[in-house]
Amino acid sequence: MKIEEVKSTTKVHRIAAHSHIKGLGLDERGEAIKIAAGLVGQTQAREAAGLVVDMIKMKKMAGRAVLLAGPPGTGKTAIALAIAQELGSRVPFCPMVGSEVYSSEVKKTAVLMENFRRAIGLRIKEVKEVYEGEVSEIIPHEMENPISGGGLGKTISHVVITLKTSKGSRTLKLDPTIYEQIKKEKVEPGDVIYIEANTGAVKRQGRCDVFAAEFDLEAEQYVPIPKGDVHKKKEVIQDVTLHDLDSANAQPKGGMDAMSLLNRLSKQKKTEITDKLRQEINKVVNKYIDQGVAELVPGVLFIDEVHMLDIECFTYLHRALESTIAPIVIFATNRGISKVRGIQDMKSPHGMPHDLLDRVMIIRTLPYGKDEMAHIIKIRAETENLSISEESVLRLAEIGEKTTLRYAVQLLTPCNLLSKVNGREDISNDEIEEVNELFFDAKSSAKILVEQADKFMS
Ligand SMILES: Nc1ncnc2c1ncn2[C@@H]1O[C@H](COP(=O)(O)OP(=O)(O)OP(=O)(O)O)[C@@H](O)[C@H]1O
Ligand SMILES: [Mg+2]
Repeated sequence: MKIEEVKSTTKVHRIAAHSHIKGLGLDERGEAIKIAAGLVGQTQAREAAGLVVDMIKMKKMAGRAVLLAGPPGTGKTAIALAIAQELGSRVPFCPMVGSEVYSSEVKKTAVLMENFRRAIGLRIKEVKEVYEGEVSEIIPHEMENPISGGGLGKTISHVVITLKTSKGSRTLKLDPTIYEQIKKEKVEPGDVIYIEANTGAVKRQGRCDVFAAEFDLEAEQYVPIPKGDVHKKKEVIQDVTLHDLDSANAQPKGGMDAMSLLNRLSKQKKTEITDKLRQEINKVVNKYIDQGVAELVPGVLFIDEVHMLDIECFTYLHRALESTIAPIVIFATNRGISKVRGIQDMKSPHGMPHDLLDRVMIIRTLPYGKDEMAHIIKIRAETENLSISEESVLRLAEIGEKTTLRYAVQLLTPCNLLSKVNGREDISNDEIEEVNELFFDAKSSAKILVEQADKFMS
């Protein structure tokens, strides 16, 4: 069995509004620290979220559902993203917004199914024959291009690389295709790498920790120099999601045995994933699990603005949660009693059908007080690198209290622009008042609509 490098299909969501959030900010006892990891207040919800994280880590949560419910701008999305941070990169976290299911090309349930499988991980352990060590030298050897008779210059004929471990060192002569990979992984002398003997796949593990003091500010992972021989057997762990396997194996050319199934991970293409394919993949995955080669890692599917889903989606979700392989599903909504989409005249709390609502654990988020808003606004200003006077932070908090936190936070950027125009260093109350007059928050806009209903089209 060979497992090649995976191209992960994880969705990359950069949500700028939440970039200050680094985690749930809990202490060792699981109690919320008032201001920590970018989060302020909302302590009960954060502690509840902490329990959810613990349960996921203990694998006690699969197939369960949690609902974050609270008014707009009370940190539901922020807390869900903090949960993702706490889980780390090994546990899959798949975020989506309810309205994503309405696409003209794909069925609603197919969108849900795909996201479900993005939230279920598989950890595959395998013993591989590798050459591992710290790179002390990489020397590419060139030769005249044989095809062009020298006209096209030189090509690489082979590359000589020396790997060092605590026990000794070894020099290898390698194929030019491996040199391509070495360049792609940006391997330099001083890095710790391994090369798979069977496939020639190169994996850079990090910089050797002898160099740890090189730079102070660097997003580098430092690893110790490997022990033992350069040529050895090594247990390699690979994390993939079921969706990674689905998409890598859509329209497979080879057989459906375990080996070719995983081999295709390296060649990615966009083709339709059929139910039949998913079933085949499940079969192989189950076989792996039975053999002890792989382990299931149920992750999190986060469905924000869940009230956008309709009854068909809810029914599907309810059933999917009962299946043997299910992630934990976290919903979020700011709706109170409202209509369930797709059913005539049915109202329900949070716009979710009663039977599904019955099985979720609900975490409430509460409106912030002025002090908490002021802290959050200050953190946001710092994250966006804006300077603002203490007095103006309080003024924004006051506005936030009357409108929403999000509205107040969103005023920061235009205020900053205006303060530059006004030739100021800091944002002052002048800018806040001016911008606040130019824009409307949802509530005051709604009020105007009611007052001037006759002037609008409806
Ligand atoms: N407790 C908090 N600490 C720090 N920042 C917060 C906190 N709560 C909310 N924020 C920030 O305030 C803004 C609004 O919060 P968020 O988007 O999470 O609200 P929400 O509850 O999801 O609202 P909606 O119902 O409208 O989706 C975001 O930028 C978020 O990061
Ligand atoms: Mg939200």
